[in-house]
Amino acid sequence: MQTINRLEMLRAGVSALKAKGSVALVPTMGALHSGHLALVREAKLRADHVIASIFVNPRQFGVGEDLDAYPRQLAQDQALLAQEGVAILWAPDVAAMYPEGFATNISVSGVSEGLCGAARPGHFDGVATVVCKLFNQVQPDIALFGEKDWQQLAVIRRMARDLDLTRPHVGAIIGVPTVREADGLALSSRNAYLSPEERQQAVALPRAMQAAVAAIRDGADVAASLAALREAVIEGGFSSVDYAELRDADSLTLLDSLGNRPARLLVAARIGKTRLIDNLPVLPLG
Ligand code: PAF
Repeated sequence: MQTINRLEMLRAGVSALKAKGSVALVPTMGALHSGHLALVREAKLRADHVIASIFVNPRQFGVGEDLDAYPRQLAQDQALLAQEGVAILWAPDVAAMYPEGFATNISVSGVSEGLCGAARPGHFDGVATVVCKLFNQVQPDIALFGEKDWQQLAVIRRMARDLDLTRPHVGAIIGVPTVREADGLALSSRNAYLSPEERQQAVALPRAMQAAVAAIRDGADVAASLAALREAVIEGGFSSVDYAELRDADSLTLLDSLGNRPARLLVAARIGKTRLIDNLPVLPLG
């Protein structure tokens, strides 16, 4: 695996790979866990060569958020990606990604509003801007993202369609299902912030979500099911719930009842100093 941190070298490396076959891009911020490796494995199944990126993107962190604390472990990440057969690791520094004078911002309205967009103003502008740059830099045949960040995936899909990035720049944007610990907690680089006690309590989140999904599918009132979820999460040791909402899985329109289209339960909650997010499908009864 080649680790590259200059754009000219990336372009040369990408051209060499493209001459030999298709290329998949797996964008990450590092601190890799099995969820990221699942993206790489899926990428390998779908393309001849995999390019992974590691860039802790300052533009998607708000004031007072965890940019400085965000785990950085390049050597360990490099070893993991090399083991998985990644061809190129694109690891630019901030000056290479945002050269002096950088002044462009991509803002996707609609799907980026509400949910994490409400709690983290500017976050999805930062994500859209860096992902657009990554798409232009690598121009992959496919790009893979975790479904754990469901709203992020919706924002990226919307941006790619709106800015005509989907073809020829990126052949397809693929969402990969969330990888979970044995007790159901979704893998996240931010789980590293949890104390052992908080880690045990954190299971209250997926449990309460599973219960809410089952209740809503059984025809229970959506508002009552979400209220029960909030209560269970707080009882389980979380300090607050930022949001717990049922939304249309694609448009992210807020739903107050389950219709005949796929819906998604999306939750963000805080435990100690850590904010965890998760989402689950709620399919209409067939
Ligand atoms: O999901 C992430 O790790 C980041 O938001 C992404 C897509 C790599 C953009 O910085």
